[in-house]
Amino acid sequence: MFHCTACGYKSVKWLGKCPLCEGWETFAEEAEVSEEHPIVKEKTAPKLFGNINEKKIPRILTGIEGFDRILGGGIVNGETVLIGGEPGVGKSTLLLEVAGKLSFIGKTLYVSAEESPEQVSVRADRLRPKEAPSIPEGRSASNKDQSKSDFSRLYILGEDDLGKVYEHIESNDFKFVIIDSIQVVYSSRYEGAKGSVSQIKGCADYLTQIAKIKGCAIFIVGHVTKDGAIAGPKLLEHIVDCVFYFEGEMLSDYRLLRATKNRFGPTGDIVVFEMSSNGLKEVKKLDEIFLPHQSEPVSGSSVVCVIEGLRPLLVELQSLVSKASFGVVRRRSLGFDFNRFSLLVAIIEKRLKISLSAEDIFLNVAGGLRINDPAADLGACVAMLSSLKDKALPSHNVFIGEVGLGGELRRVNNINLRLKELARASTKRAFIASSNLKEVDKSFRFAIEGFGQLKDVVNEVFH
Ligand code: TYD
Ligand code: MG
Repeated sequence: MFHCTACGYKSVKWLGKCPLCEGWETFAEEAEVSEEHPIVKEKTAPKLFGNINEKKIPRILTGIEGFDRILGGGIVNGETVLIGGEPGVGKSTLLLEVAGKLSFIGKTLYVSAEESPEQVSVRADRLRPKEAPSIPEGRSASNKDQSKSDFSRLYILGEDDLGKVYEHIESNDFKFVIIDSIQVVYSSRYEGAKGSVSQIKGCADYLTQIAKIKGCAIFIVGHVTKDGAIAGPKLLEHIVDCVFYFEGEMLSDYRLLRATKNRFGPTGDIVVFEMSSNGLKEVKKLDEIFLPHQSEPVSGSSVVCVIEGLRPLLVELQSLVSKASFGVVRRRSLGFDFNRFSLLVAIIEKRLKISLSAEDIFLNVAGGLRINDPAADLGACVAMLSSLKDKALPSHNVFIGEVGLGGELRRVNNINLRLKELARASTKRAFIASSNLKEVDKSFRFAIEGFGQLKDVVNEVFH
């Protein structure tokens, strides 16, 4: 059997060009798995469902609150967690902090195949708070002092051969292991160069087996490239127990950790961290980041409610529409899908009969968040029109609705969950699709109005 080392495509014969990813000379023969593999597979036997006692799974808390929450309430013994993200987003920083905390709970090994142990220690230095401020007499130390990171008990290993890593885990009985990163480790069991599909998949599978048999928790870092990456975390999602993505616009300090898979907890939860000069801090008051103009309205900004995974989030969209100074108009979106943005511009032009062909249009999501929820369509349209007309929208108004190609408002999922979040943020008025209206709970105390068309909403807010 041959397979493409770039995308994993399989073929019975060698091919010069991969029919899937169109790469040239990417085919390699799959190696036979050698027998010297140190892990002996457990003997399995069918179990009667009734005999499985559903004891509550014991959890180990890392002490980093957001991280424990996203894990589903702490670490489970024997689980493998994949943390994916673009290079430079802060995966190593986060895991080093986690490792520092874990080293006080059980023996922890940080396998740094990417950086030398010295480089890691430079990073650890940054994470350690500087001289603790002197505490005035009669007052106890603040939380910050107590939570200071200490790496004195953490084991660091600069090794890229997983076979050797396994020997260390076995002889030292490590309880927590961090592999940074899967792209730069290898195992002689598998074919191909480091970072190739067969190595990445093989190594992840190998690590999962180690975790299950040794009962240790293993965290695996995986790089994702800007375009979604083929030879990266996507290949591993089915192998590991949990998949977290760490994302954020590089120019902003905010980083989002998102659970997309969790065999031991809910998925979809997000944790927001702020990258500071000495490490990551969880941000609890999300409104301050995502709703910068909550109290003083400015033209071009609207508030939408998107569901990121399970959690509804109020987010401000900011738009700038201005006459293009040169012949070519500029269209840019940050945090908002560009194709969707272009579609909304076309819908405004066609269905509202407003010409935008001579306008530069920019659309940003506040706080560096990336949103994918179509429920933000209505808010995006209203923000662009607000900037075009230079008329600010009233504060505490929220827009929820998907906009169809005909300019119609379409229903969104989980409307009550979203409205509950609106109530929490003391919203005064919500604009939703009329098709959503009948599902709405009667208990909400603010105005909830249904509209059939985008133009009806526009007439209502910009009359
Ligand atoms: P890093 O964890 O190395 O990213 P990854 O492992 O995902 O590739 O983080 C990289 C960036 O974070 C780097 O540009 C420096 C910055 N950083 C801070 O801003 N503050 C800090 O305390 C640390 C350790 C890093
Ligand atoms: Mg790194």
